[in-house]
Amino acid sequence: MKKIFIAFLSFTATLGVHAQNKEIVLETKNSALVYVVKDNQKVYQAYLGQKLNQSSDYAKVGGPQKEAYIGAGMEDFFEPAIRVVHADGNPSLDLRVSDQRINKEGNITTASITLKDPKYPTQVVLHFQSFFNEDVIKTWTEIRNGEKGTITLYNYASSMLHFSAPSYWLSQFDGDYMTEMRMKESKLTTGIKTMDSKLGSRAHMYRTPVFYLSLGNLSTEKTGELIAGTLGWSGNFQSSFEIDQANNLRVINGINPYASDYKLAAGQTFVTPEFIFTHTLNGKGQATRNLHDWARNYGVLDGTKPRMTLLNNWEATHMDFNQDILVELFDGAKKLGVDLFLLDDGWFGNKYPRDADKTALGDWQTDKKKLPSGIGYLVKQAETKGLKFGIWLEPEMISPKSELYEKHPDWILKLPNREESLSRHQLVLDLVNPKVQDFVFKVVDDLMKENPNIAFIKWDCNRPMTNTYSPYLKTNQSNTYVDYTKSLYKVLERLRTKYPHLPVMLCAGGGGRTDYGALKYFTEFWPSDNTDGFERIFIQWGYLNFFPALTVSSHITSMGKQPIKFRTDVAMMGKMGYDIRVNKMTAEEIEFSNQAVETYKKLSDVIWFGDLYRLISPYEEPRAVLMYADKNKDKAVVFNYILNYRRKEYLSKVKLDGLDANKKYKIEEVNLMRGTKSALAENGKVYSGDFLMKVGLNLAPGKVQAVSSSIIELTAQ
Ligand code: GLA
Repeated sequence: MKKIFIAFLSFTATLGVHAQNKEIVLETKNSALVYVVKDNQKVYQAYLGQKLNQSSDYAKVGGPQKEAYIGAGMEDFFEPAIRVVHADGNPSLDLRVSDQRINKEGNITTASITLKDPKYPTQVVLHFQSFFNEDVIKTWTEIRNGEKGTITLYNYASSMLHFSAPSYWLSQFDGDYMTEMRMKESKLTTGIKTMDSKLGSRAHMYRTPVFYLSLGNLSTEKTGELIAGTLGWSGNFQSSFEIDQANNLRVINGINPYASDYKLAAGQTFVTPEFIFTHTLNGKGQATRNLHDWARNYGVLDGTKPRMTLLNNWEATHMDFNQDILVELFDGAKKLGVDLFLLDDGWFGNKYPRDADKTALGDWQTDKKKLPSGIGYLVKQAETKGLKFGIWLEPEMISPKSELYEKHPDWILKLPNREESLSRHQLVLDLVNPKVQDFVFKVVDDLMKENPNIAFIKWDCNRPMTNTYSPYLKTNQSNTYVDYTKSLYKVLERLRTKYPHLPVMLCAGGGGRTDYGALKYFTEFWPSDNTDGFERIFIQWGYLNFFPALTVSSHITSMGKQPIKFRTDVAMMGKMGYDIRVNKMTAEEIEFSNQAVETYKKLSDVIWFGDLYRLISPYEEPRAVLMYADKNKDKAVVFNYILNYRRKEYLSKVKLDGLDANKKYKIEEVNLMRGTKSALAENGKVYSGDFLMKVGLNLAPGKVQAVSSSIIELTAQ
């Protein structure tokens, strides 16, 4: 694709890229974000909304234009995007445009606006990237200290956006360990609503850095203007929504400045994480599809590549296993027909064997008693049985009962003059220390060098941060939270340079770390330790709003008491896997599961790479229905879950979505237990997309049963 690069020293009209008359126009297929530089050399947000047919019309928008990135200490009275105290103690920042650039290359337009303080050599660069086909915009900021001394950053947002609508609605997703991603919706009122995290590591255990912001009325799946936003940062985050006295809304996203007054030494540059958002007039469903497309193409490691099905041994054995038991479990994986066996926690430690969660984190040597022939033997045994082998690690953590602790007590986040505060009997390593970074890199690198055939890693992080004091940073403690996450990314970057495509699952005691900052390095994430099929519908429903199905690890386990069919159907809406004692399953369950894996493999292209349509929300009815349709609208799959059901409750027909009205589709219920027949009246018949989208299917036929499910495949004829 031809590359056009233009540096603007003066504001001139340019080749195909709109940046004339002091405007910076970022357009996607349907939306536009427009900035304007005024005579005072300040930059203002002129427009954020549906793209206009005539780009010259952006200049006419008018209205209350707000400064794009407001510095504290000047004339503004609300939350600033940035608050800096200069080396001489001056607590103000005046930002004037000194340069702007825009560069269009294929699908992506990259723009930057350089702002300088006329009196101080502090520079702020606002970066933007728009993804045309996906309707997604990404923004981040660079702060450069050109002064002679250290400056302190008290606020340093990734993004500041302004809105002017009659009312604003926030849909947020939060919970706790085992109850992740519960959706709550509320109307914003004057003042500040903040969603944040102060957990440091496993930072999203209570709140995930994702939201929908509806403008005007609360958006539905198919209607309403909104933005869907998410911050790519695995540490403390903050999203704030402030309505001023004139009903304007200011939305600020970035690292949580809490306890993080960042000392930026002379000559250094601070780069914020990326804030990713999409704007649409067509409801939450469209926002989700935009983000999913972006995520697969740009946001997730190998997002356009297939994933492996697997059997994990955590819920089956916990740490109580040995070599022979594991090899036996391989047979279970074989019976199910999955691609890979994933060995979880408990395989390491010798002086302090990892028989419970009190010991050995940090001692990443194979437990010689449990596994006398080593990991290499397990990899080989798995391969003999036609399986790939994966392994669990928790490299950022340390147990007080470990050889690593005895050798390197100075490698741990620990407060002076305080008792160690343990969580899950463990502590967090001081990853800011380059020696610790080398150690963590080496843990993975050594394992891979010794066992090059390891085909999958589960990277865990099982506690939030307390003891937040980095012995390495000495007097600079307020940089600890931020530098921890930056250091984690440094290690992941090094690992990805050496192992660019090794599939790695991101886990943090369930969904404690789920963001696009990390997903650049990971292929999927573990949404929750709650694997009860009923609960998982809500948890996966929540994550699927912002993350595509191929990233949402969904395993069939024995936690829920629902029939195997229901639990399997639930796992199939995401990235299916197992974590179950196969030897406790009945022959019928095994046969069904083996068939289910086959069926999933046939459907997985549509599930992983298709468009998601949420048809009936479990927040609104005692059932959940969603579907995926492939991009050509030739194949689709509907997932239908009846949750609770009260006698004679009316469940209407479900209108499908995302089909081609002019195509004809064969309806086929799949994933049935042997000997059961589909109750679906439409089963085996052919209907037009038009009919299916306007009339729909009766997905609660016959005698409706609580906790039942069906999967329906649609194939264009
Ligand atoms: C966390 C994970 C589990 C499992 C255990 C192992 O809780 O979420 O899936 O890996 O750690 O200790």
